[in-house]
Amino acid sequence: MTLSRNDPCWCGSGAKWKKCHWPHIDTALPFEALREQYKKQYNILLKTEEQITGIRRACHLAAKILQELCDFAKEGVTTNQLNELAVELHKKHKAIPAPLGYGDPPFSKAICTSLNEVICHGIPNDTPLKEGDFLNIDVSPILNGYYGDCSAMVAIGNLSPDKKRVMQTSYDCLMRAIGILKPGLPIYEIGDAITDCAEENGCSVVDLFVGHGVGVGFHEAPHIPHHRNKTDIPLAPGMTFTIEPMINVGKKEAVIASDQWTARTIDGKPSAQWEHTILITPTGYEVLTLSPPRS
Ligand code: MF3
Ligand code: CO
Repeated sequence: MTLSRNDPCWCGSGAKWKKCHWPHIDTALPFEALREQYKKQYNILLKTEEQITGIRRACHLAAKILQELCDFAKEGVTTNQLNELAVELHKKHKAIPAPLGYGDPPFSKAICTSLNEVICHGIPNDTPLKEGDFLNIDVSPILNGYYGDCSAMVAIGNLSPDKKRVMQTSYDCLMRAIGILKPGLPIYEIGDAITDCAEENGCSVVDLFVGHGVGVGFHEAPHIPHHRNKTDIPLAPGMTFTIEPMINVGKKEAVIASDQWTARTIDGKPSAQWEHTILITPTGYEVLTLSPPRS
């Protein structure tokens, strides 16, 4: 008979095995040993210095393209025009937009643009942005084979109090989660930090979509849930992943449109999201999707 995670520990403490003598990986192991263990036990790829250098470049480019797109998003501009600019910017920097042709059915555009009640995976179209709209722009370039992934909200003119609150709260959720990152932190604490922050501000956390490992592939292990969860995997140096909380004014539930991508809130109330790609370092973290200082 094998002991399962929820059985009482063999030591007789009465606590569940997973909370007691569960054989956690020691994140202080030499890197090569840790790398092997994470691959075997979790299918998580701890990146080498060479990979980190490549991923950092892709992430810096993602941040730069995202900034240009956010600056261009104004009243009267269509999300298709944002997409065209994104295509141009990827080309200029010899990068490939990862969303284009991704998935099934293949995503038809280079970026996601998620307007108002759209939670995520909005497809750019010919509707002009108007006063009082807000939208998330999500950029994920492939540069020299490496992936970066980030997104941000843009306000078009003056927002309703609800939109202002959810836009700020989704940002605060992301920042609160980033602030606690370090080797050894169990993944579920990210979801706890985000949910606490959302609830303090009267908002709900979407649980249908999650953050993800990223860098060598677009969507790698592990899942990074934003809602409360029980993923008891300790963060380790060399992990690269996204945190991308989707926060709603009303109910947390999502409805997927007939295009099989566009995810909307079930009650039509506004939703907001911010996203960064993060590297876990030996002492803490590095936010990879920040623009490098200009030299
Ligand atoms: N950051 C988004 C994600 O990881 C990017 C989605 S691109 C899409 O889900 F092609 F999958 F839509
Ligand atoms: Co992502």
